[in-house]
Amino acid sequence: MINIDHYLAEKKEIINRALKKCQPAAGPTAVREAMNYSLEAGGKRLRPILALAAAETFGHDDDNVLDVACALELVHTYSLIHDDLPAMDDSDLRRGKPTCHKVYGEAIAVLAGDALLTLAFEILSSYGLKTGQAEKALRISAELSKAAGVNGMIGGQVLDLEAEGQDLSIPDIETISVMKTGSLLKASVVCGALAAEAGEKVLNQLDIYAFKIGTAFQIVDDLLDLESSPEVLGKPTRADQERYKSTFPAVLGPDKARSKAEMLYHEAIAALDALNQPTELLSGLAHKLVYRTK
Ligand code: IPE
Ligand code: IPE
Ligand code: MG
Ligand code: MG
Ligand code: MG
Repeated sequence: MINIDHYLAEKKEIINRALKKCQPAAGPTAVREAMNYSLEAGGKRLRPILALAAAETFGHDDDNVLDVACALELVHTYSLIHDDLPAMDDSDLRRGKPTCHKVYGEAIAVLAGDALLTLAFEILSSYGLKTGQAEKALRISAELSKAAGVNGMIGGQVLDLEAEGQDLSIPDIETISVMKTGSLLKASVVCGALAAEAGEKVLNQLDIYAFKIGTAFQIVDDLLDLESSPEVLGKPTRADQERYKSTFPAVLGPDKARSKAEMLYHEAIAALDALNQPTELLSGLAHKLVYRTK
């Protein structure tokens, strides 16, 4: 049986080493320092780990997928730097440290985010060229850019900001969660599977699994904002209330929000059951994501 905690710790180390190698060796110091500061501040590395796990499920080892995994974490880290800016959530603490703009100023933080995003696609293009698998890299790029773009994460972030101070309906909150957070988590699983050349039918099932855990992930993030502490999370808590964000726990109450996350977890597991592969890893990760405490 797989020990998920060991798996997470082992893969996190692998990802951290790979991310170190991604850091640009040349260029103005301020922006490179800011990029590295946010990348090295920590983070659970769940998106790249999901990509490695999806690839492993289809028999591909880490070496084949590390570039893809790093690209996902670069996009995620960029999104956090921008999410924390005064013009967005205005947050001072991230991954247990002062936020990027607190240390380097807003202009450099914006540019560091831009640079991380750009670097992700530089890495993916190079991956296609160096492996001679340009078409595969293109499919992965298309998936990631779509997930991060106007109809994915960016769109969700816009709706999230527009919704501040408003009473949203549950379907509207769901749309925001799916777009701002679910889309990148879904892309993580799908890109890992694409790197491992999983077939179309399998990808459709994985899509359902990833969609469910991606949505549940944001519900849990909102619950932790309400119930945890900055010491545990490494970011401020009660921030959603302060900014009048409509979240699942705010509208449904924490118990119903938790039940919704658990229901999504069970639906994700059911989607895995239809795969003809060993799914212990993906089901263990889904459990970890939904029942996490930080
Ligand atoms: C936080 O993501 C932001 C959301 C999309 C909810 P994580 O909880 O994965 O943050 P890190 O990467 O571990 O810091
Ligand atoms: C962030 O959602 C989603 C992103 C795309 C970064 P939140 O604003 O709730 O994330 P945290 O709580 O600041 O990590
Ligand atoms: Mg936000
Ligand atoms: Mg935020
Ligand atoms: Mg949050």
